[in-house]
Amino acid sequence: MPQHTFILNGKAVTADVEGDVRLLWVLRDVLGVTGPKYGCGVGVCRACTSHLNGKAFTPCAVPVEDLAPTDEVTTIEGLPDTVGSDLHPMQEAWLDLDVAQCGYCQPGQIMTAVAEVRRAREAGREITEADLDTIRNICRCGTYHRIRQAVLEGSRRME
Ligand code: FES
Ligand code: FES
Repeated sequence: MPQHTFILNGKAVTADVEGDVRLLWVLRDVLGVTGPKYGCGVGVCRACTSHLNGKAFTPCAVPVEDLAPTDEVTTIEGLPDTVGSDLHPMQEAWLDLDVAQCGYCQPGQIMTAVAEVRRAREAGREITEADLDTIRNICRCGTYHRIRQAVLEGSRRME
């Protein structure tokens, strides 16, 4: 079987799978990284949202053969390491505002939130209500109001 190497949460990993296998299954079933959740499998629900080279992406929509050895995939498991802490400030805001209900969608929500804050900062501004309106992660429990509050609070806490 072909081998595919990339960087996962700061470490080089190699998966021995066919090239057309979607990255979400490689993460969850081959590498045992289960933070990214399976919801739709076609890039719509955003439950699997993680970061590819610092930007939000949906690994259920990416064949593993599309990754280069230098590509850096970060899942919710690796998010705290990006700030050298036990928890990322966005996760702390999430806990303080008690956002989660069943919790299933929340890793994807947090990864989207961090990417949105970074995107705004790269554009030289802070995240706005209009940015929050563009977030498309589905929450079947309907925690949207608390998610919006937590993204703003997490953004305030991010350096
Ligand atoms: S499982 Fe990836 S977007 Fe739905
Ligand atoms: S907290 Fe249950 S799906 Fe969002």
